[in-house]
Amino acid sequence: MLLKELFSCVRIPAMDMPLSSPRLDDTLGLSDTLSDASWWGGGDAAAATRAVHAGETPQMGGGLSLAMDPSVAFALPVGAAIPQDARYYYARTAHPTGQACAEVLAALEGAEACLLTNSGMAAISATLLALLRLGDHVIAPCSLYSATRTLLEGHLGQYGVSVTFVDGRNAGAYAAACRPETRVAWVETPSNPLLHLTDFEAVSEWARAAGVLTIADNTFASPVGSRPLEYGIDVVIHSATKYLSGHGDLLAGAILTRRELAERIAPWVTILGSGLCAHGAWQLRRGLATFPLRMGRHCESALRIAQALQENPAIAAVHYPGLPSHPQHDLARRQMPGGCGGVVSFEVDPALDAVSVVRNTRLCTPAFSLGEPRTLIAHPETMHYAAFPPEERRAMGITRSLIRLAVGLEDPADILRDIEQAIAAAVSAPALPEKAALTS
Ligand SMILES: Cc1ncc(COP(=O)(O)O)c(C=O)c1O
Repeated sequence: MLLKELFSCVRIPAMDMPLSSPRLDDTLGLSDTLSDASWWGGGDAAAATRAVHAGETPQMGGGLSLAMDPSVAFALPVGAAIPQDARYYYARTAHPTGQACAEVLAALEGAEACLLTNSGMAAISATLLALLRLGDHVIAPCSLYSATRTLLEGHLGQYGVSVTFVDGRNAGAYAAACRPETRVAWVETPSNPLLHLTDFEAVSEWARAAGVLTIADNTFASPVGSRPLEYGIDVVIHSATKYLSGHGDLLAGAILTRRELAERIAPWVTILGSGLCAHGAWQLRRGLATFPLRMGRHCESALRIAQALQENPAIAAVHYPGLPSHPQHDLARRQMPGGCGGVVSFEVDPALDAVSVVRNTRLCTPAFSLGEPRTLIAHPETMHYAAFPPEERRAMGITRSLIRLAVGLEDPADILRDIEQAIAAAVSAPALPEKAALTS
């Protein structure tokens, strides 16, 4: 349903007044470069410049920081259709703070439109609900964020949607799994937690020919690492909870795509109530100003730590696409020119208890999430994937020895020292101690 059709049938009972069709630009966070970008360089400017200036139109005597407007309702004329120049009327649909923030993200990702949501999972679920119909089929990679897998495998099944999991490293596996009813190919690259890469160009070329929409969860790479829309991907999703907001104090998400698809997804964000509130949008916009700078540091530190971990005899494998030894390093160089992200995962020697390593860290905090100033460490088997049956975990490549390190902004030498002392202090692998099953 087009946005204008949705709103043309909505009535506000108290006013008993038909709403006129709002313009697409007026919906939650949809940006179409409303502000004048010419003074700061627009599309020619580098990411660091976009992050600071996109969406700004400074006025002489006006404040230079984004003003937060927390209004839920916006004044309207009574007894008449909403005038075309009335940009906002109810904040679940759109608000000025979200609009300003969305412009910055659209500029960073190189997208025509950006919809802001109140979490990464809100972005993922609104997009899939909008684009899928009863009987449709989705292809997704085996190595995948756990809640996305649960949504695809568990919840969407009740609406008649089926899913096939393939090895995301093999673009040909997507083509092989394609059926007449395949509607969406999901890509998560680098994947959580194994850092597998999927070739954007190969998957999007096949998908376009097959009439399948491609969606990439770009949370791990961020738009500094890679910009999937430039490689032919149709929709980019972010958990803006992570690097984009960057301080570990905000849940947010984003959907970035072309206008035509945004028009299909926007009514779902509105109707599900998944939009980001003004306070959240203001906070996200503040985080975005320093995001390219922070992301550069996350990437540099992660590479340095991955290199050092490779030399540690207690570590059996290090997964980081920035390492020349990574089997997909050439692809990383091609489609992640800005860096390979801040997550490194590694497998300790099977003789060593990985849980004990995680428990013995001091500087690194055992916790879910990533993209924060502090380094977080996780044991995926007993944390994110605890609720999955052991065979399924094995098929996903989640081993008992696997540790995920979300490298923060501390000095990498200190992080490394902490991991080395935790390895030295760890006990040898016993039967895994029972832990409460935690899921995020
Ligand atoms: C790759 C990826 N996508 C999506 C999400 C979901 O994001 P949120 O927690 O903001 O809903 C996460 C969360 O960790 C993630 O790692």
